[in-house]
Amino acid sequence: MTHRNLDNQSAAVAVLGLGPMGRALAAASLAAGHPTLLWNRSPGKATALVAQGAVLAPTVADAARRASVVIACVINYRAVRAVMSGLERSPRGTFVNLSSGHAAEARDMAAWAAQRGVNYLDGAILTPAPTIGTPAATILYSGPRALFDDSLPWLESFGGSSVHLGADAGTAAAYEMALLDLFTMSVGGLAHAFALAITEGIPPTAFARFARGIGGLLPDMADRFADQLTSGTFAADVSTIASAGSAVAHVRDAAAARGVDPAPLQAVQSIIERAVAAGHGGDSYARLAQSLVPADLAEAAR
Ligand SMILES: NC(=O)c1ccc[n+]([C@@H]2O[C@H](COP(=O)([O-])OP(=O)(O)OC[C@H]3O[C@@H](n4cnc5c(N)ncnc54)[C@H](OP(=O)(O)O)[C@@H]3O)[C@@H](O)[C@H]2O)c1
Repeated sequence: MTHRNLDNQSAAVAVLGLGPMGRALAAASLAAGHPTLLWNRSPGKATALVAQGAVLAPTVADAARRASVVIACVINYRAVRAVMSGLERSPRGTFVNLSSGHAAEARDMAAWAAQRGVNYLDGAILTPAPTIGTPAATILYSGPRALFDDSLPWLESFGGSSVHLGADAGTAAAYEMALLDLFTMSVGGLAHAFALAITEGIPPTAFARFARGIGGLLPDMADRFADQLTSGTFAADVSTIASAGSAVAHVRDAAAARGVDPAPLQAVQSIIERAVAAGHGGDSYARLAQSLVPADLAEAAR
């Protein structure tokens, strides 16, 4: 692959990492009219973007040196560290890490970047690659507000909502992990439920019609959890933890009877049993969230 002239790329965006998400970010940047520099460990992934006008840089340092904003979007923070070690010197632009990881990794990375004089913003992309560049995209950022404000003209090309959550670099990753918790547990629940339905001879399409209704309960429940966790009162106006305990026992037995692994249900059951043993059986489900928070952190949050 040829490397086109990298001069005159002021006000450019550099995108480091060209997996599905990195390619979507680079395509959105190009569509917004920004000169777009690319680097990827496997340069072949840049071919289509180069055909659209992006410039492939031979090294991380070459891509970053010329950019006003340097986006890293690779598989994890270890890969980000490997990519950043190729910078050679601090880029003049802000380094925006949009790779997934947890809050402590983001804070460590921010500290590491600060030691090297790199202007660092952390971020978390909440929506899938096809949303990038559309109104459906949501990207969270945390780190110095001034860096976010200065980078916004480029970040806005990724579409949708660009939300700054505060100066602590770990905040965006903290939101991402808690939301991924919700997503992975929900997807796990969906997979488990379809498996149980199939073992009972229920056609997947017939099951999906009713499964959609369960999913539709979650938005109101999220608001109710938030209200009750904020007020610290857990009146069970709908269902109690004790009733959830009896429901989960039915499903666990049904799964075990059909040879579907009951372990996920047993995990939920043990959480419920601990809450009941602590005297919260008559409370609402939101109390389960509070009972999962370690005591020292619950104390600190008050
Ligand atoms: N895809 C989505 O819809 C989506 C949604 C939200 C968030 N995200 C987050 O966005 C990030 C990127 O995701 P993705 O879907 O584009 O693909 P991915 O499979 O998570 O990551 C692929 C990218 O990481 C690079 N990479 C892996 N190990 C590396 C290393 N040791 N050194 C340098 N580069 C390395 C790959 O380079 P090679 O091409 O050379 O292998 C490629 O550019 C992830 O953190 C992901 O969680 C993705």
